[in-house]
Amino acid sequence: MPLVNAKEMMLKAKEGHYAVGAFNINNLEWTKAILLAAEEAKSPVMLGVSEGANKYMTGYTTVVAMVKAMIEALNITVPVALHLDHGTYEGAKACLEAGYSSVMFDGSHYDFAENVEKTKEVVALAKEKGATVEAEVGSIGGEEDGVVGMGECADPNECAKIAALGIDMLAAGIGNIHGVYPENWPGLRFDVLEKIKEAVPGMPLVLHGGTGIPAEMVQKAIKLGVCKVNVNTECQLAFAKATREYIEAGKDQVKKGFDPRKLLAPGTEAIKQTVLEKMEIFGSVGKAF
Ligand code: 13P
Repeated sequence: MPLVNAKEMMLKAKEGHYAVGAFNINNLEWTKAILLAAEEAKSPVMLGVSEGANKYMTGYTTVVAMVKAMIEALNITVPVALHLDHGTYEGAKACLEAGYSSVMFDGSHYDFAENVEKTKEVVALAKEKGATVEAEVGSIGGEEDGVVGMGECADPNECAKIAALGIDMLAAGIGNIHGVYPENWPGLRFDVLEKIKEAVPGMPLVLHGGTGIPAEMVQKAIKLGVCKVNVNTECQLAFAKATREYIEAGKDQVKKGFDPRKLLAPGTEAIKQTVLEKMEIFGSVGKAF
């Protein structure tokens, strides 16, 4: 199936009370592992790519070409959206030109009026290309690509104003942060989530910082309107752990164990298993259409 935007995915997730996982990709192994997991689980999936990861993979057009070719070569039949994660205005524009089917414009660090203006412009560009748009209100905490957010809770009134701009998904801070949660993290603010849900009826909500949030908390958030859950760090940790075990066991020194196709295999498999577990928690297994 060719790349799709996230519109139908989000509508179906909302109706079916599940969430679609958006898993960040970093290279070929990541992409392959996530696509194979989605196909095995018969689950729709979103591939999230930060601007830093795009740069690492040599640019937006390289990423689009790789993902499209891989979908075809692996005969992936489930819906796949290629989505810019935490994009700038310029990044979103470049991705839309390059063929991304979905973009996040993260204007949460601007003052609100500027976030509104820039989000509006990105929506207009995306509409021309048939792509979907995610906007953000209330910066998500933690560090991502060197950008540190403060972990705010979004203001429901601001959510309503941004939701009215024609966006397809809304990321709203509810105490979630990127990366590993500190031990004293108090948990998601369901009271804030309920208020946001009332302020933006029908709008698919996005939960960032999916790594390490207890499954019951994620499932409660899904019941309250979350339709997309982003996961990045957990796949990175799984990959690093499996790779370290392989090397610490000396397997890279046995025969041709140093061959990258062997060296990276356990890490790739670990990403796939992590994605499968998450899809189970999110309830998207068997929901491909
Ligand atoms: P984690 O790295 O905490 O899973 O967050 C991913 C994310 O929200 C990407 O936008």
